[in-house]
Amino acid sequence: MSKFVRGFRTGLCLALALSAPVGAAQTGAASHAMLESMAASQSAYKDYMLNCGGCHRFDGQGVARNAVPSFLNSIGLFTRLPEGREYMIRVPGAAQSQLGNAELADVLNWMVANFSPDTVTPDFRPFTAGEVGAVRPYRFDDVVAARRQLEARLQKLGLTPAPYLYGSN
Ligand code: HEC
Repeated sequence: MSKFVRGFRTGLCLALALSAPVGAAQTGAASHAMLESMAASQSAYKDYMLNCGGCHRFDGQGVARNAVPSFLNSIGLFTRLPEGREYMIRVPGAAQSQLGNAELADVLNWMVANFSPDTVTPDFRPFTAGEVGAVRPYRFDDVVAARRQLEARLQKLGLTPAPYLYGSN
């Protein structure tokens, strides 16, 4: 496929996603083109580098000795559970960042598409500003317990997210 055609398809997917969020949510398919266009967002890339990359590293690997978990082949697993999506929005590093709701949604989509594209199901729906705004104000009393619960639920589905050392000293 020529570069032009690929660019056109990506652009078309983006245009559809922007112009018809309701339709996109109803059909809800995480097409390859959709993941590609989310991964290519320059503004999300910049926002990630400035707001998240210092701790999570530019390649998403995290820093094990600082208990910053890796996103690689892992972060997309959380999108399989409604509570997992909420968790991704409500963790302190995301919820308390300077980013607006739309920007945070874009960064989460960018992270999933770049660091963990093979872990999402075909019915993956991109995060939206509305979804982020609805749950972001609710801070966790105990983020470690929330992560452990999600981990246990994912394990039951045969899925193993990245090691999580935070709070275990
Ligand atoms: C000051 C360092 C720091 C910054 C900046 C930071 N994080 Fe984090 N992040 C952490 C630590 C530590 C954890 C593990 C503890 C926790 O769950 O909060 C974490 C966990 C996470 C998790 C859960 C990962 C998992 O496997 O459980 C997500 C999602 C996340 N961060 C997203 C973000 C996003 C998005 C940004 C930028 C908008 C960001 N973080 C900025 C330190 C940071």
